[in-house]
Amino acid sequence: MAIAHDGSERTGNAALLAWVDEIAELCQPDRVEWADGSQEQYDALCQLMVDGGTFTRLSAEKRPNSYLARSHPSDVARVENRTFICSEREEDAGPTNNWAPPAEMRATLTEVFRGSMRGRTMYVIPFSMGPIGSPIAQIGVEITDSPYVVVNMQIMTRVGTKVLEALGNDGFFVPCVHSVGAPLEPGEADVPWPCEPNIENKYIVHYPETYEIWSYGSGYGGNALLGKKCLALRIASVMAHDQGWLAEHMLILGLESPKGEKTYVAAAFPSACGKTNLAMIVPPKGFGSWKALTVGDDIAWIKPAPDGTLRAINPEAGFFGVAPGTSYDSNPMAMDSVRANSIFTNVVLTDDGDVWWEGMGVEPPAHGIDWQGNDWTPDSGRVGAHPNSRFTAPASQCPTIDPAWEDPAGVPISAFIFGGRLSKTFPLVYQSYDWNHGVFMAATMGSEATAAAIGQEAIRRDPFAMLPFCGYNMADYWAHWLTMGQRTDLKLPKIFRVNWFRKDANGKFAWPGFGQNLRVLEWIVERVKGDVGAVESPFGYMPRYEDMDFEGLEFSTQQFGAITDISRIEAAAEVEEIKGFFAKFGDKLPAELEAQRQAFGERVDAAPPVWKVVA
Ligand code: GTP
Ligand code: SPV
Ligand code: MN
Repeated sequence: MAIAHDGSERTGNAALLAWVDEIAELCQPDRVEWADGSQEQYDALCQLMVDGGTFTRLSAEKRPNSYLARSHPSDVARVENRTFICSEREEDAGPTNNWAPPAEMRATLTEVFRGSMRGRTMYVIPFSMGPIGSPIAQIGVEITDSPYVVVNMQIMTRVGTKVLEALGNDGFFVPCVHSVGAPLEPGEADVPWPCEPNIENKYIVHYPETYEIWSYGSGYGGNALLGKKCLALRIASVMAHDQGWLAEHMLILGLESPKGEKTYVAAAFPSACGKTNLAMIVPPKGFGSWKALTVGDDIAWIKPAPDGTLRAINPEAGFFGVAPGTSYDSNPMAMDSVRANSIFTNVVLTDDGDVWWEGMGVEPPAHGIDWQGNDWTPDSGRVGAHPNSRFTAPASQCPTIDPAWEDPAGVPISAFIFGGRLSKTFPLVYQSYDWNHGVFMAATMGSEATAAAIGQEAIRRDPFAMLPFCGYNMADYWAHWLTMGQRTDLKLPKIFRVNWFRKDANGKFAWPGFGQNLRVLEWIVERVKGDVGAVESPFGYMPRYEDMDFEGLEFSTQQFGAITDISRIEAAAEVEEIKGFFAKFGDKLPAELEAQRQAFGERVDAAPPVWKVVA
């Protein structure tokens, strides 16, 4: 028997109404509520969660209209080993994704979801990724039994009635089904953070051929806010491949030169490698005449415009940023963004009703409540905030938000920048010799992860920072990028790699980073315009000392050497390591990438034992 709801008063989209009925019938919620995007509904859901113990309202003076949530200790991050790409053929998911046959997975999930919302309200959230009506935007509808998801989605995306209007009676939407996986028996009391605690019973499932998403058992971040990684990256990467555009794990930044010229760049870094920092970069002292403006901090959708430029939108409307380490020193614009109207998950609650986390740059409170809900003091020997604790804040609250951040046409991208966390070998910045070389640089990008077994540093390859987010075979994704480079109708951006994380002989970061990264961005912008010099290195074009602007920073030519010298032995090891990495992709590996690897190897072989920018 169908569960009554007022969907037909809200939309004439028969496919949507039929799907909502079907999911309600399967999941058997007590009632169905549609998210209309209003402040009233947002406030009412927050109050509901305060009453139920999920939310703590923060001090009206210190953090107006803001809340703290504590997750279940088993539910604190994305679950990559429970994330599946269910394409018909295994090879279409590729060696970097978990795969299961779609028919089998559908049968499993039907049983998992049956009755999963008993005792709960089922919310229907129509949302737009990107400004409503933008030709680059996409509509999704998330069904969830979590009010926490509804209010977070309302910050992170555009939600509600206006989305239904844009969808119309026969518009296309991506169906996204989410359940925390904790049905309630009649009379059973709820808990503050319902979820399925056993990781083996969680499922984050994508059907790339039919553009569908099903998520079960987790209420946290990218597992549950299905517009973000599931739709805007995994499903959108497949759409982008099918339709000739790009869906990327990239921040978008506008740079205004002292002459007032605006250049936009998009930059991909793996998770927790500083996208939010770079997206909100503040010019250092002495560099005040450059301006940096934020368009997005995590995801970029990039489409060719009729004039051949690649235009990017930020599909999101909020920031879901890592809290620990965010301070007025490291990221003042993020600190300003979270001053009000924000949700904090898994940070410390102070006795005066505010939040605190490690690396916030202010004294820890003498006493607080930690992320697990226990009394906490700075000398307790435990961290107060979970390392993956996060803030959810409206992007509009960022003081440096770009005036064009909601332009439906997007902003024109002039450069792609790729970077990882690499303590040696890789120089501060280099430019690709051409498009294909740039694709090679991005495809082989990596970050250091400590190998548990031997405690030795190893590079975890994270191609394009998309390893956990590519919805199809990574080798086909590389081929898609190579194809973009063959299109003669496009004004292709230039491609760069950066490394903020190189260390000196004493194990200290050799480059000051953060705001100082604007000096690197200046060189990049000037390279795009053809206004500044460079030399050829085994890695790519690199700036000479005099090509960069060090005004106002004490940075010697010796220090410059420490971030730009290239060791032939280390570079040769990289050439070999890439060989092993490429082997995983078998026949699917585009021949052009192996050709690039060999050309790289030849440049390395021809180099002196220590290659220096200034010979
Ligand atoms: P997701 O939201 O998980 O996709 O991650 P993100 O890329 O936005 O990363 P996040 O902002 O969490 O990364 C912050 C980390 O990068 C912190 O450990 C910072 O200290 C570090 N970081 C950012 N910029 C710099 C820099 O210029 N130099 C150094 N050394 N560290 C930096
Ligand atoms: C990431 O892990 O890259 C994130 C956080 O941006 S989450 O949305 O939880 O995936
Ligand atoms: Mn991310």
